[in-house]
Amino acid sequence: PEDKQILDRILQAHGYRKDQVIGVLQQVQQEYHYLPEEALTYVARGLKLSEARVYGVATFYENFSLEPKGKYVIKVCDGTACHVRHSVPVLEAFREELGLSAERRTTPDMLFTVETVSCLGACGLAPACTVNDQVHPAMTPDKARALIARLRE
Ligand code: FES
Repeated sequence: PEDKQILDRILQAHGYRKDQVIGVLQQVQQEYHYLPEEALTYVARGLKLSEARVYGVATFYENFSLEPKGKYVIKVCDGTACHVRHSVPVLEAFREELGLSAERRTTPDMLFTVETVSCLGACGLAPACTVNDQVHPAMTPDKARALIARLRE
């Protein structure tokens, strides 16, 4: 990739150690918001691991994404606590507002990604969602639409 420097810096920070592969991938994902294929190849070479091994790690952990994501990643919780407090209409409001669905999770302008999670660890704040890991408590469809409007500004 053209930004090899970024990857070199990350690899160096982890001492080019094979056993640091998860930490390396976490930082790569922080930079790009996902794991670009070329970056995986580069990391494999840098750590002297096979590409299959690095790819295996990248696909094993559900926090890693191999698909590009939007600038704002919205995670709507659909765990039990949130579900019983009406998380589904919240999810629907987000999707409707952004023209997204279960299959199409990122807007074409790469601004928003909407996905579901099974618990955000904030059950007392149900129904909850996060935007780039910041928790928004007690969501409603109206609040979801207002949130999108604010983020679009
Ligand atoms: Fe939604 Fe735990 S079930 S935060």
